[in-house]
Amino acid sequence: MNIAMIGTGYVGLVSGTCFAEMGNRVVCVDIDENKVDQLKNGQLPIYEPDLEHYFSRNTSEGRLTFTTDLAEGVAHAELIFLALPTPPGEDGSADLSYVLNAAGEIADLIANEDDDRYRLIINKSTVPVGTADRVQNVMEEAGLQAGEQFDVVSNPEFLREGVAVDDFLKPDRVVIGTSSEKAANMMTRLYEPFVRQGNPIVVVDERSAEMIKYAANSILATRISFMNEIANLCEKVGANVDKVRLGISKDHRIGRHFLYAGIGFGGSCFPKDVQALHRTGRQNDYNFKILDSVLKVNDQQRELLAERVIDYFDGDVSGKKVAIWGLSFKPNTDDIREAPSHIIIRALLDAGAEVVGYDPEAIETTRRVFGDAIDYADDMYSALDGADVLVICTEWNAFRRPDLADVRDRLAEPVIFDGRNVFDPKRMAEMGFIYSSIGRPSLPPENDEAAIETALSENGQPA
Ligand code: UDX
Repeated sequence: MNIAMIGTGYVGLVSGTCFAEMGNRVVCVDIDENKVDQLKNGQLPIYEPDLEHYFSRNTSEGRLTFTTDLAEGVAHAELIFLALPTPPGEDGSADLSYVLNAAGEIADLIANEDDDRYRLIINKSTVPVGTADRVQNVMEEAGLQAGEQFDVVSNPEFLREGVAVDDFLKPDRVVIGTSSEKAANMMTRLYEPFVRQGNPIVVVDERSAEMIKYAANSILATRISFMNEIANLCEKVGANVDKVRLGISKDHRIGRHFLYAGIGFGGSCFPKDVQALHRTGRQNDYNFKILDSVLKVNDQQRELLAERVIDYFDGDVSGKKVAIWGLSFKPNTDDIREAPSHIIIRALLDAGAEVVGYDPEAIETTRRVFGDAIDYADDMYSALDGADVLVICTEWNAFRRPDLADVRDRLAEPVIFDGRNVFDPKRMAEMGFIYSSIGRPSLPPENDEAAIETALSENGQPA
């Protein structure tokens, strides 16, 4: 099928590439000339595992092309996807100006064509309930007839950064929101190759599709905030949140995913979408109370490690050097949007600490935010040289089995605050670390050097 992908951000680029991989001809359109030049030269503006492989293959085989010319994309395509930013406006609600302006330009282009081709205008961006209707109004205002010349479809994405290509190629489900049978058939044909594992294509009305996206992200965010509250309470009563998680996850009604306590959720979706759904409630005279708490708990959780570090130094961290492992909001991405690490760094800097950060991918993106206010290490070990404490903010695999003897040697004091529970508290205590994690008892560190040496030489962590 012939597709135009309007917007080559994270979602547009992954979606366009994966549609091309299934044999469709995809023209990606973006107003950013530099980005389009970069893409034409074979360079990806984001880090996403596997994307490069599919991107190279499909560009070299001519199924995936890039342009700044919207008219070229519209002339090419029967399926026109909008994958445009919907940033929070001043009042927190999603700013739809990119989506609606693009719809207006597309409508004018279609209205001026000679033929009467039928088009689908498909919303991929996360947009408030009712946006499909607004896009339809824009199209109709240009004199186009719904059902004849176009239909509007809501087709939310559920891509997780870091595994987005896999999520796109093998989705748990595809949600298609449309009240037009013709549109539903075209969309089903497009997505059939992606759901051959037997996963469903769920066809619903536009408003339900828009709500599905917010409901999915909000329930996932709620699970995280809920587990973070359980973790906080575990600490107070001497229980262990990891064991609690294991116990509850065996109940098939609960399941095992998204129950990891930590330092709160970040990223471009959860904080924004939970807030937007809460606002939708308000706008419709409904106070969605749980969501308010989900956000408050998350704000509190993202501050937690900075508070603990400051408390550890009796309220005075001036001149203390804090090493941070993990700057991205989660592993396998260079994305730092709403990253808990950044909130922790800011709080530590405000309190007068020195910060040195290391991340396998997110140093450059972090440098754009903090500039010279913090130092950046070339590797995870050199970040520790002379640091008074190590704070773990992202659970990159490389941090899971480090050489703890080396870690201990390099730190001025063997103190670790772990926001992602990557180590076993018992083993850390045996190796002489003062080790604090989330929702698990902290044990007093071993102080017999011979015992510490033995434990360090074994080093491995029980699974
Ligand atoms: C999310 C949704 O999963 C995806 O479907 C949607 O389309 C976009 O938003 P993403 O933002 O890439 O994807 O990240 P995700 O893997 O969902 O994690 C979000 C945040 O929650 C991260 O900060 C992560 O560290 C945190 N998290 C996740 C936890 O704290 N505990 C968990 O158990 C799971």
